[in-house]
Amino acid sequence: MDHAPFDADDRLCLGIRGPFAAGGNHCDAPYWQTPSELVERMLDFAACGPGDRLIDLGCGDGRIVVAAARRGAKALGVDFDPERIAEARAAADAAGAGDSASFRREDLFLTDLSGATIVTLYLLPLPNRLLAHRLRTELPKGSRVVSHAWPIAGWDADREECVYGRFLYLWTVR
Ligand SMILES: C[S@@+](CC[C@H](N)C(=O)[O-])C[C@H]1O[C@@H](n2cnc3c(N)ncnc32)[C@H](O)[C@@H]1O
Repeated sequence: MDHAPFDADDRLCLGIRGPFAAGGNHCDAPYWQTPSELVERMLDFAACGPGDRLIDLGCGDGRIVVAAARRGAKALGVDFDPERIAEARAAADAAGAGDSASFRREDLFLTDLSGATIVTLYLLPLPNRLLAHRLRTELPKGSRVVSHAWPIAGWDADREECVYGRFLYLWTVR
């Protein structure tokens, strides 16, 4: 895995996450799946469609990435867990997603966000908070961030909804 050079925020972030964070095996959120109907609502929130480039940070079994590819987006999932990446690739193959869905075993804090128009999150409050600076500064203007379950501390959501008992949040990068 390539490690991007760290700026001060990244160093702070890695300091908070602990000494093993940069090694690529640091779990910042346990594996829980977004229910399928909620996946579609997350993509509706982000108005995901052809021309979008979506990144799911901590992609689990790849369900958000595969669903985005089905909508005509180019989608990338990253997860530190090789088992999740293998499952995600199998799911994308089974769905015939082809080049529209790709996956990388990678620490999500090192993922290059600059090409994304949509970032999806189902993490925890701390990783959301630690990602905030990079989401604000690296994503192109107009990009959308959708989080399942947790807000991003200090960010006012453009839309917030409780769906099937779960909270979804949408922000647009300005
Ligand atoms: C709650 S699950 C979400 C899975 C999927 N996005 C979904 O919504 O169904 C969080 C995922 O993040 C992954 N993860 C946790 N820390 C990570 C890190 N530092 N880098 C990459 N993936 C990580 C876990 O392996 C897990 O699959």
